[in-house]
Amino acid sequence: MTTANQDQIDHWNGVVGERWVSHQAMIDTMMAPFSAALQHKLALAADQHIIDIGCGCGDMSEQAAALGTHVTGIDISEPMLAQAIKQSATKPSAHAVTYQLADAETGKFPDNHFDYAMSRFGVMFFNTPIKAFINIKRALKPTGKLVFVCWRHAKDNPWVTIPGSAIAPLLPKMPATDPTAPGPFSFADPKRISRILTSAGFGAVRIEPIEASMPIAVGQGVLGAVDFIAKIGPTARAIAELDDDKRAVVKERLRIALGNSEVNSTVHLGGAVWLVSAEV
Ligand SMILES: C[S@@+](CC[C@H](N)C(=O)[O-])C[C@H]1O[C@@H](n2cnc3c(N)ncnc32)[C@H](O)[C@@H]1O
Repeated sequence: MTTANQDQIDHWNGVVGERWVSHQAMIDTMMAPFSAALQHKLALAADQHIIDIGCGCGDMSEQAAALGTHVTGIDISEPMLAQAIKQSATKPSAHAVTYQLADAETGKFPDNHFDYAMSRFGVMFFNTPIKAFINIKRALKPTGKLVFVCWRHAKDNPWVTIPGSAIAPLLPKMPATDPTAPGPFSFADPKRISRILTSAGFGAVRIEPIEASMPIAVGQGVLGAVDFIAKIGPTARAIAELDDDKRAVVKERLRIALGNSEVNSTVHLGGAVWLVSAEV
């Protein structure tokens, strides 16, 4: 694999990739409302060819294959792809899915081959997004479509703001970062998404807001949710450098903050995304 996105390759092949593997079931459950929105928009039919961009541990690829499609899941993370391959082998539709270690920006995919390029939160990490979407577009048929979900601004996402404001007083002030730098919120601005896709040659760009309540660590109560949030996502990143004593104080703050969102032993936090579609 070439090194166009080396920082992200390191990120998703390190401890973050390993944590996504060990928390895969929880992540898939948390994302389920947005997976359903993506599936509804795609309306896949048997025998279509699908490329899943940043497929991670393969949940969306497997969902698509179960509908009778032929799926190529591509990702830069070796541990996440290994998990996807392991899980796929146990499914009846295993023969219909191929996983490929590839960077969306530089990967070699067959030209004019896919009916759909889809992604669940896998397209916000490109160093040169226009180049990546040109590469993706080349792989689509002339009738092909692109459909993905990406996060709206962190401030519009209670799963970020509720834990974030609880622990902010305990964290050192961070320097402001470029909101368009590769990362989960780099596609927060719909005008930027539209500009990128149009520059890559896509037309009929549609960007719809969707909100949903996401179950965090189902059945594991507030402590399970705290543990999850301290390991995966922006809160985990913010507290990564803290020593054990400070981490314990942070976790106690999170326990109190998330307690208000617990119903029947499961914490639910709101998520806000853009459902984006475009045509070749
Ligand atoms: C937030 S995770 C989403 C994973 C999966 N789609 C899901 O919903 O569970 C982002 C994924 O994008 C992948 N990714 C990041 N940059 C990429 C790139 N340039 N090419 C392909 N995949 C990439 C990461 O390795 C990671 O698996």
